[in-house]
Amino acid sequence: MAESQASAADPRAAGGEESRGGNGHVSVLFVGDIVGGIGRRTLLDSLPVLRERYEPTFVIANGENVAGGLGITPKLADELIAAGVDVITLGNHTYHRREVYAYLDAQPRILRPVNFLSSQPGHGVCTVERDGVRLGVVSLSGNLYLRAGRSAFTEIESALSELRDASHIVVDMHAEATSEKVAMGWHLDGRVTAVVGTHTHVPTADARVLPGGTAYITDVGMTGPRGGVIGVKREQAIESLLTQMPVRFETSDEDPWLMAVLISCSRPLRADSIEQVLMPRPVLARGRD
Ligand code: FE2
Repeated sequence: MAESQASAADPRAAGGEESRGGNGHVSVLFVGDIVGGIGRRTLLDSLPVLRERYEPTFVIANGENVAGGLGITPKLADELIAAGVDVITLGNHTYHRREVYAYLDAQPRILRPVNFLSSQPGHGVCTVERDGVRLGVVSLSGNLYLRAGRSAFTEIESALSELRDASHIVVDMHAEATSEKVAMGWHLDGRVTAVVGTHTHVPTADARVLPGGTAYITDVGMTGPRGGVIGVKREQAIESLLTQMPVRFETSDEDPWLMAVLISCSRPLRADSIEQVLMPRPVLARGRD
């Protein structure tokens, strides 16, 4: 298993590319927002297939919707980590479940957006290490239409300064507005390995490596039911929109897919390629629901 540490107290001792490591082939599988139990089971069933097919060095997953569609619990986070998810990123639903607050402080591998207030539980940066490769991960929240106490564009600087010895850095930009995510991609181009967008649950068709070498996609999509409305049972979402009255939302379990990107790298802090991975839940596994 990879070693993990929270934001190091003095991570600035190392500096240039020589000391970063990660010159060999490194690949990162980033899994889009896991929605509900159906999303969790889809990920767990898909991971063996993905490991055999892509042999990812690291796996990151956004888990902010894994607990019944809203938030995450310590038990569910532990289950994802035990299944081989190296780092869990979160977003606007981070604090939906109170029982996770202490866990967010104690578990270095789960990240809430780094630009939340420092008084809020948890942390937004971590490093995981495998085979001499140090992967830094940053969770960020957009500021347009989402609540985040500080600016993503200013707070990313201190986050990156904590990761000066990282071989690679992946930033999860959890945001509603496409413009804000595109801007963050350009802002960090040439400074990090990848900027991947999450939150909308709909994958975008703009995955590419930017001119400075940073892999980018506006939204990875979700790991959950395509038969609903961004995860919710479609009849409930439609009723809400038709009646303009409160409707209790439940997670759909129809047509579950895994949505992810595979980022491949051969130089520190740069990506060679970013490939979308969009696949239905493996059929043979469905019998165990
Ligand atoms: Fe979100």
